Amino acid sequence: MPHTIRVEPSGHRFEAAPDESLLDAALRQGLVLPYGCRNGACGSCKARLLNGQVTYPGETPDGIEAGEAEAGFALLCQARTAQDLVIEVNEIHEAGELRPERLAVRVRGLERLNHDVMRLQLQLPRDRRMQFMAGQYIEVITREGRHRAYSLANPPHDDGALELHVRFVSGGDFTEHVFGGMREGEVLQIQGPLGQFTLREASPNPVVLVAGGTGFAPIKGLLEHAFHVGTTRPLHLYWGVRARRDLYLPALPEAWAEARPNFSYTPVLSEPLAGDGWDGRTGFVHDAVAADYPDASGVDVYAAGPPVMVRAVRDAVVDHGLPEARFHSDPFEWGIPEEK
Ligand SMILES: Cc1cc2nc3c(=O)[nH]c(=O)nc-3n(C[C@H](O)[C@H](O)[C@H](O)COP(=O)(O)OP(=O)(O)OC[C@H]3O[C@@H](n4cnc5c(N)ncnc54)[C@H](O)[C@@H]3O)c2cc1C
Ligand code: FES
Repeated sequence: MPHTIRVEPSGHRFEAAPDESLLDAALRQGLVLPYGCRNGACGSCKARLLNGQVTYPGETPDGIEAGEAEAGFALLCQARTAQDLVIEVNEIHEAGELRPERLAVRVRGLERLNHDVMRLQLQLPRDRRMQFMAGQYIEVITREGRHRAYSLANPPHDDGALELHVRFVSGGDFTEHVFGGMREGEVLQIQGPLGQFTLREASPNPVVLVAGGTGFAPIKGLLEHAFHVGTTRPLHLYWGVRARRDLYLPALPEAWAEARPNFSYTPVLSEPLAGDGWDGRTGFVHDAVAADYPDASGVDVYAAGPPVMVRAVRDAVVDHGLPEARFHSDPFEWGIPEEK
């Protein structure tokens, strides 16, 4: 039977089964509590027990000292409970509260999704996790010390590996390597999490999400997170690309639309090919959004992808009444300083 855990000072509650860690239970139910290794070693998930007791599956983990345990602290990534609890821990509300760290990761998977997009799965060091919020990005640091930003396409609850969608750029330092010499097992230096492109969950407004090309990556993360926490807000995804082949995961948004009554999907092709057999929307994606939302004053808009597309979407929806504060964006600017 699950037990109820009340979190102070927020007053939020979640349920935990006796055989799952308190952290897993909280994350599963959409509460963002701080963590690091999820392995009992780093101490980042420490919380004070205000009422009730916890147990650990084995020895008391290394991340908590005996004196701290006696003083009523617990490591939530390992602790289990057989009773209702009250715990004191500060929830994470904003991406800025997460401190970026530098990690060595291993390429676990390389999958060609279409003619110019590769899905990379990056394996964190054994028993490590990187805490992030859906929609954030990491930087890959090349051997020459160059930083290249890539959005995280996986949601935080599915953080066993980091998923990137990398589009080939002709002559590009990093992407030429991804599509050329990169092999599974290669070690990459990364730093993250970075960025503020996260879902403002306190807002009750319908959400319009606009992806251009691999701007689908952070938006996939945002949507999978929203589905996971059970949001009932209407979610409308536009995915703007040139031709049909550029919709590099075509079945995924279609499956979401089929399974979820609050989700709708509008792909928009700007230059369909003769053989595309396309009878869907065409033109620029910002024009499609503008046509569908003549009054955008009541929605929240999230746009990610090429800077020129992100600016065009912003201008279109602000023209149609969207307050600028409710426009959130992740322009894939290039030309990040070489050394940081
Ligand atoms: C916050 C953020 C998130 C990002 N997320 C992603 C992502 O999820 N997926 C993804 O594929 N990219 C993403 N990018 C872009 C990515 O960081 C790189 O710019 C891109 O992969 C090129 O790197 P490169 O080393 O191969 O090319 P570089 O060696 O940096 O550039 C080679 C040449 O191509 C030009 N160029 C660089 N990038 C582009 C581009 N995107 N389009 C057209 N010309 C370009 C440069 O000006 C230069 O002339 C993101 C950028 C930012 C800032
Ligand atoms: S997250 Fe590192 S000890 Fe719990």
